[in-house]
Amino acid sequence: MNDKQFERFEKWFYDYVAAFYIGETLYDDNIRLKECHTRRVCRDILTLADKLGLDEQQKLVARTTGLFHDVGRFEQYKRFNSYNDIGTINHALLGLEILAANKILDCLDPHEKKLIESAIGFHGDKDLPKNLDKETELFAKLIRDFDKLDIYFVMVERLDDLKKNPEKYMTTLGYPATDGYSQHIAQAVLEEKTIDYRDFKSINDMVIGIIGWLSDINFVPVLAEIKNSGHIGKFIKFLPDTADIRNIAKHAENLIEKKIKSN
Ligand SMILES: [Fe+2]
Repeated sequence: MNDKQFERFEKWFYDYVAAFYIGETLYDDNIRLKECHTRRVCRDILTLADKLGLDEQQKLVARTTGLFHDVGRFEQYKRFNSYNDIGTINHALLGLEILAANKILDCLDPHEKKLIESAIGFHGDKDLPKNLDKETELFAKLIRDFDKLDIYFVMVERLDDLKKNPEKYMTTLGYPATDGYSQHIAQAVLEEKTIDYRDFKSINDMVIGIIGWLSDINFVPVLAEIKNSGHIGKFIKFLPDTADIRNIAKHAENLIEKKIKSN
């Protein structure tokens, strides 16, 4: 793969997305949310690529995965007015269908194409399959980490708004902003178990659940970004001040340190 090919992918992607704007504020804001998410994911991959030890070819594969991982989101929103895969569609697989229908990756070497498709296909799954070959696993893990890194950023940016306009998020996220949280979600985070989106009953559950993602973050430069951003502290402040949440705060801090040291 070469730079020219990546530039063509970028051009296609941003032209493709531009056609989804309809001139209605809330709708367009939601399209923009995912367009900007993609821009930041691509930027972050590029920024951390050297620290991650990626060579030039690997950088291009990782950037292409970043560029296309959420290409299905726009069609998902158009069809369902929602980004909640539960009850709508698996947006990762929808993205693969769109890439195939437009023959976007057909110009690539079949091996690279497969790596990109696998990473996109698995990016939203609760867990990665266990038996992946090393290279597939590398790119699948990379996009999962960078996706989470940016979702942390997006969620932190919206925490105030979430408190003020819960109805708005009921549509896009599909969870109500109740005061409580599910005990078993808090427990699962403390036990470092992966949590299914299906288990979330409220925004608080989701915030707790995304703190729990820390146990599934693989690369030290990404962990270091999360640590330096102070995002976890902001999530904790958003949540009710209970013994569970204080335990989660401590657990998250220790987990980041432990993972950074052990890698
Ligand atoms: Fe996604």
